[in-house]
Amino acid sequence: MNRAICPGSFDPITYGHLDIITRGANIFDEVIVALAKNSAKKYLFNDQQRLDLVQVATAHLPNVKVVIINGLIADFAKECEANVILKGLRGAKDFFNEESMAILNQEISGIDTAFILGNPALSHISSSYVKEIAVYQGKIDKLVPENVAVAVFEKMKLSKDLKAL
Ligand code: PNS
Repeated sequence: MNRAICPGSFDPITYGHLDIITRGANIFDEVIVALAKNSAKKYLFNDQQRLDLVQVATAHLPNVKVVIINGLIADFAKECEANVILKGLRGAKDFFNEESMAILNQEISGIDTAFILGNPALSHISSSYVKEIAVYQGKIDKLVPENVAVAVFEKMKLSKDLKAL
């Protein structure tokens, strides 16, 4: 069984992420999408919400599982006997950021990171831009699956209502 761990913040999952997960699911027997945390980031969605959104968006992919990780990706990858850590690249800038993490993860776990280039037509998409556009009520339907777009606007509305209190 060839198992890949596909880690990320997925705050929220975008069509770019989905492209990488789908490509991974076509290559590996099993892809475990690991909702991890970058301790330097503040998240819009909590762990369970991020999990629900990824689960709905990947429900059509039978060999994809989704889990929440609280520790290091390298430890989780070792624990579940993953063959590889899978990351998507939108271009050289992503590689620049990912290179040292891949080396560190290799050092800690002995597990290599495999990079997949995503569809160039989606390379402009990022979770941060999705949130930025949504704050100003822009259209995000070409950037994220429908369930995600609904959840992002719900969340924005909620945080606005909370601010008004
Ligand atoms: O989608 P992101 O925000 O680029 O994902 C980054 C993430 C969450 C994959 C990364 O921060 C991570 O792996 N966090 C878990 C803790 C960990 O293993 N850090 C390794 C640093 S070398």
